[in-house]
Amino acid sequence: MPSAQDFVPASATMDKLRRAARGCTGCDLYKGTTQTVFSKGPVGARLVFVGEQPGDIEDRRGEPFVGPAGKLLDRAVAEAGIDPSDVYTTNAVKHFKFKAAAQGGRRIHQTPDARDVAACRPWLLAEFALLSPDVVVALGATAAKGLFGSGFRVTKSRGVLMPWPGAAADPEGFGHSGDGTPESAFAMATVHPSAVLRADNRELAYDGLVADLRIAASALPG
Ligand code: URA
Ligand code: SF4
Repeated sequence: MPSAQDFVPASATMDKLRRAARGCTGCDLYKGTTQTVFSKGPVGARLVFVGEQPGDIEDRRGEPFVGPAGKLLDRAVAEAGIDPSDVYTTNAVKHFKFKAAAQGGRRIHQTPDARDVAACRPWLLAEFALLSPDVVVALGATAAKGLFGSGFRVTKSRGVLMPWPGAAADPEGFGHSGDGTPESAFAMATVHPSAVLRADNRELAYDGLVADLRIAASALPG
């Protein structure tokens, strides 16, 4: 089986990456999906969100975070005083992992495991080679473990600013080869917006997300 790396163009712009990712068959997750869901937002964004994987709606639309979790995230971003045009949003895994419901043909979300995240990692690394964020925010455990290592616990360390790419499990992978890399960039993890939607106390969970995003916003220069 080919690896995602086989599909990543050697020298790329974000548009070139996005186009190349459409044809990725680097793991089995593309099977039965509608399309690769890459990212949205400007390459020069100061804040980068890394989510888990596209959901059912994202798979159909071809854009990340456009379903219920995305709507909630948009609201939280605005409430935290972050300019949405200053945000780049992507996922640790670029295809929707699901299983078919026993009846009715509904597609049920399956959490990608470490192997899925590792398989798709070349795309994430290729994106970061082009990005130069001041703050990177991992949304939920899948993204946080993908960025900061398998021992990272969102419940324990959410809302804590860490040096970036120093806090990455492989700083060299996420580090830049030069250019406009901010010297004092930060990273942080918070809960996934889907977890807010599932929480017993949604209001409390939502306020917690906004509070974390305010911390992220505070690390944006100027
Ligand atoms: N959840 C994610 O992690 N990513 C999306 O794009 C949508 C929902
Ligand atoms: Fe390629 Fe990632 Fe999709 Fe797997 S999930 S086929 S590695 S884009």
